[in-house]
Amino acid sequence: MTLQTEQSPVQSSANQLNRQMIVILDFGSQYSELIARRIRETQVYSEVLSYRTTAEQLRQLNPKGIILSGGPSSVYDEGAPHCDPEIWNLNLPILGVCYGMQLMVQQLGGGVERADRGEYGKASIHIDDPTDLFTNVEDGSTMWMSHGDSVKSLPPGFELLAHTDNTPCAAIAHHDRKLYGVQFHPEVVHSLGGQALIRNFVYHICACEPTWTTAAFVEETVREIRARVGDKRVLLALSGGVDSSTLAFLLHKAIGDQLTCMFIDQGFMRKGEPERLLKLFQEQFHIGVEYVNARDRFLAKLSGVVDPEEKRKLIGHEFIRVFEEESKRLGPFDYLAQGTLYPDVIESADTNVDPQTGERVAVKIKSHHNVGGLPKDLQFKLVEPLRKLFKDEVRKVGRSLGLPEEIVQRHPFPGPGLAIRILGDITDEKLEILRDADLIVRQEINRCGYYHELWQAFAVLLPVRSVGVMGDQRTYAYPIVLRFVTSEDGMTADWARVPYDLLETIANRIVNEVSGVNRVVYDVTSKPPGTIEWE
Ligand code: XMP
Repeated sequence: MTLQTEQSPVQSSANQLNRQMIVILDFGSQYSELIARRIRETQVYSEVLSYRTTAEQLRQLNPKGIILSGGPSSVYDEGAPHCDPEIWNLNLPILGVCYGMQLMVQQLGGGVERADRGEYGKASIHIDDPTDLFTNVEDGSTMWMSHGDSVKSLPPGFELLAHTDNTPCAAIAHHDRKLYGVQFHPEVVHSLGGQALIRNFVYHICACEPTWTTAAFVEETVREIRARVGDKRVLLALSGGVDSSTLAFLLHKAIGDQLTCMFIDQGFMRKGEPERLLKLFQEQFHIGVEYVNARDRFLAKLSGVVDPEEKRKLIGHEFIRVFEEESKRLGPFDYLAQGTLYPDVIESADTNVDPQTGERVAVKIKSHHNVGGLPKDLQFKLVEPLRKLFKDEVRKVGRSLGLPEEIVQRHPFPGPGLAIRILGDITDEKLEILRDADLIVRQEINRCGYYHELWQAFAVLLPVRSVGVMGDQRTYAYPIVLRFVTSEDGMTADWARVPYDLLETIANRIVNEVSGVNRVVYDVTSKPPGTIEWE
């Protein structure tokens, strides 16, 4: 059987008709998600839905406004995505962004053509009508453009709001019908007046109120969890990361001891982390955690395995086996809590919804991020209380529930942990070396206040040895690689330009304090072509 997930995004919102919402119809833009985040920053809820969402579905969702995203197509391309033309008759404010604006123009009787000169990058906006959409946006503000097509003639009733040197129709409006279009991307950081424009749309044009707050989310979610779970028992696999920890806090607040947190120690965590996690949850927060010491099992399974994919697979399988055994021992449980976040829901919105029932039919799990993921044939129903949230919103919720900053702000840590930072086969001795080196990295990064500047900072142990000299002795020992990167989202990354002094301190300490290491090197590869992890 497949896991039963909560409802599809369409259903979930439809159930909350009293929550004000802006819907973003996605036409394939890489920025649709970003628009949703920008709207939510104004404390108004927003969801990204497929451009195929019908006017009737939208009517049921009852949003306060709609944004049509950009997209890679030209409105004249064969098979270019078009929205249901009935949405123009919904009497709702609509803002078209880039492709969304061109679609609005085309469908309402204006003209769009390939521009004489496309416009890519920053452009200065000249405001022709500073009222509503452009209130508080400075004339001459930088906005970010990325388009090859341009609006050549306006549909009936539309007026020009702004232009740039290259683009005569950079912003347009039909004031009476509250239809707006902008050729630029107000959502990207390079658009300096962009957030003010988004606020204008949300507050002045759609008349929203700031109802999407952390406190409101917690209150509503606690209510939803109680209603869904009733007096049944819920199992949560705790990893100590921000998602599972926030989930634990939220569920504990909602259902108290009906929640069982299970922490499986694979033996690949950082030095002292299992102990710290247990102490924090049990002693400080009084949330019971079932600690499962599976270190020996995992190490035995991985003995002699050098292939990275094989390692991941074995760890994943073993995790599931331990999980099954232990959940039987501690169970029965009716529900499994999963830390699905909103980006996972959006990604699967188009592909994984059963068109007949509207139910999500499978849990989308990125294969490479799947260690600690779910066995698909377990007899659990899912609770996914974080599925409406972006990562930064999870952090806010965690913080508001009392989760300490060290967890809230924690760098990402891969499910297979140190196992994929020891290249080649894994032994107790190597784990010990890496844990000690990694601890020094963390201590020094924290000491110099660099932690928050970095996406990740960690040590990697290589399976080769080189010659060195210590005192009068020749050494022949392992090198440690320092991998410090900056990144927005882990998809791309750059090596961090940290001070030489910091590198020197870390290298000195590692070579002097960690036996088995005689050399420290710094990885200066960006991603791509490298990856952040070494395996
Ligand atoms: P890469 O190495 O692909 O990593 O550039 C991108 C981000 O993902 C993390 N990562 C993982 N996270 N399980 C996880 O939960 C994994 O198997 C895994 N592999 C990589 C990595 O730490 C980085 O933040």
